[in-house]
Amino acid sequence: MTSLTVTPGGALRGTLTVPGDKSITHRALILSALAEGDSLVTRYCRGEDCLNTMRALQAMGIPIQEQPDRLLVSGKGLWGLSEPSQPIDCGNSGTGIRLLAGLLAGQDFFTVLTGDESVRRRPMGRVVKPLRAMGATIAGRKGGELAPLAITGSRLTGMAYQSPVASAQVKSSLLLAGLFAEGRTSITEPRRSRDHTERLFRFFGIPIREQGPALVLDGRPATGWQGVNELPVAGDFSAAAFFLVGASLVPGSDVTISGVGVNPTRIGLLTILQEMGADIQVLNPREEAGEPIADLRVRAASLRGVTIGEAQIPQTIDEFPVLCVAAAYAKGRTVISGAGELRVKESDRIATMASELRKMGATITETQDGMVIEGAAGRPFKGASCHSHGDHRVAMSMAVAGLVADAPSRIDDTACIETSFPGFERKLLELTTPS
Ligand code: S3P
Repeated sequence: MTSLTVTPGGALRGTLTVPGDKSITHRALILSALAEGDSLVTRYCRGEDCLNTMRALQAMGIPIQEQPDRLLVSGKGLWGLSEPSQPIDCGNSGTGIRLLAGLLAGQDFFTVLTGDESVRRRPMGRVVKPLRAMGATIAGRKGGELAPLAITGSRLTGMAYQSPVASAQVKSSLLLAGLFAEGRTSITEPRRSRDHTERLFRFFGIPIREQGPALVLDGRPATGWQGVNELPVAGDFSAAAFFLVGASLVPGSDVTISGVGVNPTRIGLLTILQEMGADIQVLNPREEAGEPIADLRVRAASLRGVTIGEAQIPQTIDEFPVLCVAAAYAKGRTVISGAGELRVKESDRIATMASELRKMGATITETQDGMVIEGAAGRPFKGASCHSHGDHRVAMSMAVAGLVADAPSRIDDTACIETSFPGFERKLLELTTPS
């Protein structure tokens, strides 16, 4: 079993880049595959999650040339996918399996989608039910609530859907299905989730519009879309998050992360950390492939507790594990509520973060949809042996906690970091080792 040992001490200093955004990479691959002709996707996320989506598209007949810093996707047009001869393994990726379910529901062939133990525990009903309402034929364990999912491609009809959850995976799954459906698909969500799909639709020239709170798409467009010369993927804010917190906590730190996506639907952590007293500057704002990006400079600061409610959840959803670390080290109490979605991520992140941080001496009370964290006011955590629970973000968050402990900490089962952030340990080491 792979493990990571973090030795506390040195300030984090220097400049770094982070992997391409995982959410954008999944979508860039799928929309490039449906385009006519070649698209060059650069600075993509080489995490296993995205590589699994790439392999899925290759298994459906899409040629993709893979290089470490670029993917050349030779799209075959809207109806150009073909039946894979084997089940598709989405690995650890909830995004991969849910987006592909939408993509495949309206094809004229059969597919089986599956994933690792974590994915096979996660709720699929949230996409299966609305897809069935559009005419999809999907079977799965527990009536389609759990993967594997067997999808018999069907003729779909567009529909107006009010999603009960603010989920970009649900929204994107239905938008992809809507492309293959007859008529109009419209989707409304209770709060706005990340909008990378909508932005990439526009980047490729796929008509999509907003009508009040609804996103509206006309299916089966008469003309398809062309591949793009270059689709540079923004740096992943969710990967940058570990350094934003790490450098905020370790005295003397000064880190600049260049080329990070700062899409407003993603940067809840930035706002929350600033409210907690963090010293983070957003520099050199620019736009690439329809996404705002910037360089983020973060310097150590003392943080204080904060209250986080439902309205802040969607734009912060993947950053709660590392936010818990910041809160446990800050001065005062942090209260998080309305975050029940955390219980159905790669792990139950309320339970896993509470139990792992307690091993390091933190005082945390779980609630049904959040937690109450009594900050240590800058008193070092206890060096401890922790476990990732197979969750990449838990693994990296505990590594960040280890930076401000009184002794080395070991995090076990860290192979999962590969799903989103290959090279995380090296980057962390480079910043802490004086050059
Ligand atoms: C994602 C959406 C979010 C997020 C996940 C990636 C996406 O999930 O937690 O890591 O790329 O659409 P939900 O849509 O289920 O909230």
